[in-house]
Amino acid sequence: MKFNDKIVLITGASSGIGEEAAYLFASKGADLILIGRRVDRLNQVKVRIEEKYREQRCKVIRCDVSKREEVLEMSKDVLKDFKYIDILVNNAGFAIFSNVINTSIEEIKSQIETNLLGAIYCIKAFLPIMLERNFGRIVNVASLAASIGVPNLASYCASKFGLLGFSQALYHELHGTNVRISVVSPITVKTEFFNHQSFKSIELEPKIALSANSVAKAILRAINSKRLEITVPFYARGAIWLTQTLPYLTNPIVRELFIRFNKNR
Ligand SMILES: NC(=O)c1ccc[n+]([C@@H]2O[C@H](COP(=O)([O-])OP(=O)(O)OC[C@H]3O[C@@H](n4cnc5c(N)ncnc54)[C@H](OP(=O)(O)O)[C@@H]3O)[C@@H](O)[C@H]2O)c1
Repeated sequence: MKFNDKIVLITGASSGIGEEAAYLFASKGADLILIGRRVDRLNQVKVRIEEKYREQRCKVIRCDVSKREEVLEMSKDVLKDFKYIDILVNNAGFAIFSNVINTSIEEIKSQIETNLLGAIYCIKAFLPIMLERNFGRIVNVASLAASIGVPNLASYCASKFGLLGFSQALYHELHGTNVRISVVSPITVKTEFFNHQSFKSIELEPKIALSANSVAKAILRAINSKRLEITVPFYARGAIWLTQTLPYLTNPIVRELFIRFNKNR
């Protein structure tokens, strides 16, 4: 699929993967709707896009995707201006690094409300128009933590496992239509994701951290792929396969790796 003249809505477009995806879609000629809470940052992205690609429309809407009423308002605003969207990228998300015993229910809920329900609210808001036009693409940004339980990220894992499961079910429901859903699941990416207070003492291992741009490219690839899930890098699929196929062998390794990682930080 070519992206010129496609209308693309990206949640979490104010930084990291979402911001890079916005530049990439803009470079291919797409019109953009940029969603997030930090309007100043969204406006910076919009200005950069408009300076470089003058022909395209770019709209900024402040919306906290964890709040259903805000998503409903945002979708009304979008449909009033654009009539429809072609591509929905559910990318907004965050994590709190903390073990279960020290994580409050509010902190657990906030991750599930943003990462899982936020994506579901957006899908529910835009799926009807996609089905009506019999055209649409949805990309959900999950994580390797959608398939492998990671110590100190239990609630983040719950939200991403949920997102993958929801996407897989919808993938089957959409079979036979021209509306498709896919999931992009990266390993660690160098972004502001780790600026959250809870990650303060973690030092990223640069060798295994991807660039936001490489994940943005995978989002565009996913739109043209019939596969449900694309892992980034592709060989991370091997880790998922091993964990799910030989859990009695891999669980102690995963545990040991993360314990060592936490000791070394
Ligand atoms: N970085 C990694 O290692 C990694 C690995 C695997 C998957 N991921 C996933 O990749 C996605 C993007 O993260 P990133 O790495 O690019 O981190 P990031 O730079 O922190 O970007 C996160 C984006 O999500 C937005 N966001 C967060 N909560 C929101 C809310 N309630 N409503 C609307 N927007 C919200 C933020 O915008 P505002 O603050 O302006 O609202 C920001 O634009 C997330 O879903 C994350 O789970 C990241």
